[in-house]
Amino acid sequence: MKEAVEAYRQYGWKKFFQLMFKSRLPWTLYIISIITAFLTTTISLGLPIVTQKLMEGKIFEDGLVTQYVLLSVASAVMVSISAFFAYVTGPITRRNIQQTIWPKLIRMPMRKYAGSSSLQQISRVTIDPSFVDSAISDLRMMLTATYSLVGSFVIMYNMNVKLTLALLPIIPYILIVSAVVGHFTQKTQYGVQEKLSGLTAFFAERLPKIRLIKTFGKEAEEIERGHAVIHDQYGAEKKRAVVDLFAEPLMQSVRAIVVGIVLIYGSILVSRGELKVSEVIAFYLYVQFIHNDVLKYGIFWQSVKQARGAAEKISGIRDAEEEKLQREHSFDTVADRSSGDITFENVSFSYGEKNVLSHINLTIPEGKTTAIVGPSGSGKTTIFSLIERLYEPNVGRVMIGDTPAEDIHLDEWRQSIAYVSQSAPLLSGTIRDNITYGIRDDMSDEEVINAAKLAAAYEFIEEFPDGLDTEVGEFGSRLSGGQRQRLAIARAFIMNPDYLLLDEATSNLDARSEHLVHQALQKLMRGRTTIMISHDLKDIGHVHQVILVDQGKIVGTGNHKDLMGESDLYQKLVDIQNQKSSKLAATM
Ligand SMILES: Nc1ncnc2c1ncn2[C@@H]1O[C@H](COP(=O)(O)OP(=O)(O)O)[C@@H](O)[C@H]1O
Ligand SMILES: [Mg+2]
Repeated sequence: MKEAVEAYRQYGWKKFFQLMFKSRLPWTLYIISIITAFLTTTISLGLPIVTQKLMEGKIFEDGLVTQYVLLSVASAVMVSISAFFAYVTGPITRRNIQQTIWPKLIRMPMRKYAGSSSLQQISRVTIDPSFVDSAISDLRMMLTATYSLVGSFVIMYNMNVKLTLALLPIIPYILIVSAVVGHFTQKTQYGVQEKLSGLTAFFAERLPKIRLIKTFGKEAEEIERGHAVIHDQYGAEKKRAVVDLFAEPLMQSVRAIVVGIVLIYGSILVSRGELKVSEVIAFYLYVQFIHNDVLKYGIFWQSVKQARGAAEKISGIRDAEEEKLQREHSFDTVADRSSGDITFENVSFSYGEKNVLSHINLTIPEGKTTAIVGPSGSGKTTIFSLIERLYEPNVGRVMIGDTPAEDIHLDEWRQSIAYVSQSAPLLSGTIRDNITYGIRDDMSDEEVINAAKLAAAYEFIEEFPDGLDTEVGEFGSRLSGGQRQRLAIARAFIMNPDYLLLDEATSNLDARSEHLVHQALQKLMRGRTTIMISHDLKDIGHVHQVILVDQGKIVGTGNHKDLMGESDLYQKLVDIQNQKSSKLAATM
C-alpha cells in the first residue's frame, strides 16, 4: 500500500496535458461550458449587491425587486445550461479516449502485454478514462471558482477596504486546512480504490474457477480468503470515514472563522459608522462564495492527482507502437516465387530477461510433417509463437523460402496458418460464429456443415436442438475439451491453410475424443506443411522429421528411429507417453 501510494505521487503533469491535447476533446463544447459557467458566476456575483440595496429599504426604487427576480431566474437558467454542456462533454471525452485506447490494446505487439494483468488492462478502457474526464471537468470548475474568488474580493475591496484586508490573514489558514484535508482524503480514497480493485480481482479470478475450487474441496478456505478481502475493503472505507470525521469540522472551522470576522469586525465598523448593516449582509454572502470556492480547490487537487496517474497509464498504451501489418512482400508472391520451407537461422529469443531459445537452426520442409519433441518448458510453444510472428527473434531470423519472414505482410502470413492448441479457446457466440471466426461471415450452412463433418464435430453439433446456432457459453464452457478441439479443427478445414501448427492438440483428451480428433487431424494434415508438438508414438512414429528440443536448444534431429537409437532423452519422453497411452486405452 505504502509503495503504491508513493508510486502514485510520482506522476507528473506532462502526460496529463499530452493526453488532453491529443485526445480529440470536444473543445467547442468545453469552451461553451466554460463561458456559460463564467456567466453564471457573473450573475451570482451581482446578487449580494442587489440584496444589499434591498436591505437598505430601497424596495420601491430602481426596479430592484424586478432586478432581483430577473437575476435569480437568469442564474437558474444559466446554471442548467452550463450543467448541460458539462454533462455532454464528459461522455464525449470518455468515448474519444476509450476509442483511441481500444485499437491499441488489440494491435500492440505481444510483448507489450507482459507485465500487467488483464484486469489492469481492462482499467485502461474503463475507469482510467473517467478519471481523466473528471479532472478535465474539475479544471473548468476550478477556473470558475478562481473567477468567483477574485470577483468577490474585488467587489468587497470596493465596498470596504478595512474589512476585506481583515479577511486576508485567514487565507494561509484556509490553504493549510485545504492541503491537509486534501492530502488525507486523497490518501485514504486511494486506499479504498486499491482495496476495491483487489476485491474485484479476487472474485474475477475465483468465480470462473468454481469447478477447480469444488474439486479440490477448498470452499471453506476460499470463503475465508473472500472474507479477508471483503474485510480489507471495509477497513479502507473505515479509514476514509475517520478522515471525513475530522475533515468536515476543519472545513467548517474555516467558515466559522471567516463569518466570525465579518460579523465581529463588521459590527465594530458599523458602530463607528464606517460600514452599513446592509453591507455587512453583502459581505456575509460573498464570504459564503469564497468558502465554497476554496473547497473546490481541494476537490480539484485530488481529482487531478488521480487523473495524472490514469493519464500516465493510458499514455503507456496510447503511445505503444502497433504491429505493422503491411510489409514489403505479399505472401502469395513469396509462395509463387520460392518454396514454402520455414527456416530458423541462428534464432535466439528471450521473454524480457528470460532467455528461452538459443541459437536455433532448423528447417521445416514444405508439404511434410515435422514433429517437435521436448520436455515441458523447453521452448516448443515459443518456436510456434516465432513462426506465427507473435514475437520477433532477438538474434537471427526466420525465413520463408528465401524471403525473411519479417518482410512478408503480417496479416496474410498469419492467415496462412491454422493453430490448434491444447486448450482450443472459444469466444462467446454460436458454434457457427466460432467455426467461421476471422474467416468469412457469408459462409453457407453447407460449407460449415461440411467442415464440421470432416472434423468429426457434426455428430455432437447435430444433437443440440439449435445445431450450429447453439450458444457455446462463456469461453465455450458448454462444450467439452474434445468438442472444442473438433470445432477448432473444423475452423482449420474451412481456412484451408498452407501451414498447420498443432500444439499438443490431442494430449488432454479422453480416449474416444482423442481417437476422433486424431483421425480428423490426419485428414487435415494431408499434403500440408504441418508442425506438431507431440510425444505420442501414433503421431511421431511416421513423421518425416523429428526435432528434439531441450532447454531452448536443439539436441537432436532425424526420424523417430534415428532418435530412438541416439537419444536417451527422446527414449524417455516416448516411454512416458506410451505408459500414459496404455493407461488411457485401458479405460476405453
Ligand atoms: N509469455 C511468456 N512470458 C514469459 N515467459 C514465458 C512466456 N511463455 C513461456 N515462457 C517461459 O518460456 C519457457 C518456454 O516456454 P514454452 O515455449 O511454453 O515451453 P513448452 O511449450 O516447451 O512447454 C518456459 O520456461 C516458460 O516459463
Ligand atoms: Mg507448450
